[in-house]
Amino acid sequence: MPNLKGVILHGGYGTKLRPLTHTGPKQLIPVANKPISQYVLEDLRSSGITEIAVLLGNVHPEKVKEHYGNGQRFGVEIQYIRQDEPKGIAHAVSLCREYVNNQPFIVYLGDNLLKGGIKNYVRAFQNSNHDAMVLLCEVKNPQRFGVAKFDQNGKLLQLIEKPKQPPSNYALTGIYFFRPVIFEMIKQLKPSWRGELEITEAIQLLLEKRYNVGYQIVQDWWKDTGTPEDILEANRLVLDALKPEIKGKIENDTSIQGRVAIGNNTLIKEKALIRGPAIIGENTKIEANVYVGPYTSIGNNCTIKRGEIENSIIMDNCTIDVNDRITDSLIAPHSKIISNNNTPHGKKFILGERTYVEL
Ligand code: G1P
Repeated sequence: MPNLKGVILHGGYGTKLRPLTHTGPKQLIPVANKPISQYVLEDLRSSGITEIAVLLGNVHPEKVKEHYGNGQRFGVEIQYIRQDEPKGIAHAVSLCREYVNNQPFIVYLGDNLLKGGIKNYVRAFQNSNHDAMVLLCEVKNPQRFGVAKFDQNGKLLQLIEKPKQPPSNYALTGIYFFRPVIFEMIKQLKPSWRGELEITEAIQLLLEKRYNVGYQIVQDWWKDTGTPEDILEANRLVLDALKPEIKGKIENDTSIQGRVAIGNNTLIKEKALIRGPAIIGENTKIEANVYVGPYTSIGNNCTIKRGEIENSIIMDNCTIDVNDRITDSLIAPHSKIISNNNTPHGKKFILGERTYVEL
């Protein structure tokens, strides 16, 4: 089989992640200090896939181009394809017909993370005669996903998008292997109840027309990062496998416990306690007596003057100076959280649209 091309879907409004998605696409939200879609791109590259189309939507597509450019910096060749209207995954795939040029290809949703990567599945697809192959993962809440139905022998019978009564706990991950026949199926689709052309229905059509649809079951974790809770969980999962690495400067009398990565030019002042797994980016300052607890990612150019932070993602250029513990939080770039002891009553907020605060 010739080399596969990759297609990364980078569109969608990310409504469940507002306000973070007012200023950028959800796939650029960092998990362990790296945009989610960069894990996807690196997974494709490690599987030998270097020709990649990135499908852009309407939420600040220029930020995606700014980050990935022509792909050279990441060792791949990127072409951008614009999906002007959010008409669904199958619609986005149909826009790639010319790009894939009658060859087999992989579609990888830019907000999906898969431990262990796709390398072995790529090989399995290349050595098979499948017209399409899907990756399934056992989940607790299959209603949220496309779900597979099997016969007693494990033969794939049907794929149903977000069923109220799921026939199994096996969800479709957002990683699909296709041959060009999928484009013929997409042409026959009608918009679903959510007004989208569903890729699940296109694969279902392949099954109905007796094409050869294979599947593989993901053994390790897979995460679709659609909500703030998903992002924090993805952050925990990635940090669980963090390689400890200290590049910055650590003053005497600090305590660095467990798996911790600290970037260049970052300063950890005396009596700070960093308890891993945790990652701190570059040019960041952690002042004296600050506590950074497990499952925390702090980006570049941040200053943590006072406070305790746990199970949270603090993105680039933030300032935190509080008498408090911040936990289970996602803090967007250029945010400032301070305790002002001079404010006589109550708390003071200047918050963006759809901000969520829990006190
Ligand atoms: C999409 C697919 C669904 C799949 C999921 C995986 O859902 O329609 O079948 O299980 O991705 O992330 P969506 O994220 O559009 O709700």
